[in-house]
Amino acid sequence: MAPRKLAAGNWKMNGDLATLAQINAMAGAVRGASCDVLICPPALLVPALVAKGVVRVGGQDCHAEASGAHTGDISAAMLRDAGATHVILGHSERRADHHETDDVVRAKARAAHQAGLVAIICLGETGDQRDAGQTLEVIAAQLAGSVPEGATAANTVIAYEPVWAIGTGRTPTTGQIAEVHARLRADLSARLPDGAEVSLLYGGSVKGANAAEIFAIPHVDGALVGGASLTAGDFLPIVTALD
Ligand code: G3P
Repeated sequence: MAPRKLAAGNWKMNGDLATLAQINAMAGAVRGASCDVLICPPALLVPALVAKGVVRVGGQDCHAEASGAHTGDISAAMLRDAGATHVILGHSERRADHHETDDVVRAKARAAHQAGLVAIICLGETGDQRDAGQTLEVIAAQLAGSVPEGATAANTVIAYEPVWAIGTGRTPTTGQIAEVHARLRADLSARLPDGAEVSLLYGGSVKGANAAEIFAIPHVDGALVGGASLTAGDFLPIVTALD
């Protein structure tokens, strides 16, 4: 089976209840789309977005444990209970701001799987690592370290997000994206029985104007979109380009 196509929005720490109203504008396009459409808002907005019934809804992080004394954290089961189907894990902003290592990301992905969530595991090189010619080495190590045993195409999505392309308006060349995605596909196929079917997303300054070119790259099965996912006007052209 071919990997599922997924247009995913990561709202990061943006949006409020009023912002959710613009999701209504997506309803027609999303219902007719053959790709999956997912929005990951701040956790407080998950139930209200789920209640709209327009898009799939995901979290942006979860704790590695099911419950306990972890003030301020939420568990994968809590996200699932609120109606989420996915959770973003290991985003470079969390790896940087919260010192999340591959071991931490792998433990969180295991917790997500146990709770019945699809783990969207993020990885990507910094600008310095790319300049030093270390990109493939870095992403291969992150993949090996962040994907837990028991991962399958049904419960895991990989998002390649070069750190230097996030929120900068700079994107890698199509050749650079193709090189990384081919390596991810090869490594996943070698490691997982259904690795050829795991969806691979590209993320980093995706917008309506560059989406079609990016989606034409082999082994790019969708996008993880930040800024351009915040309004229906910016996000829908990306969904349409993937569909
Ligand atoms: O997770 C998506 C994100 O990091 C990309 O952000 O704003 O460059 O699309 P942006």
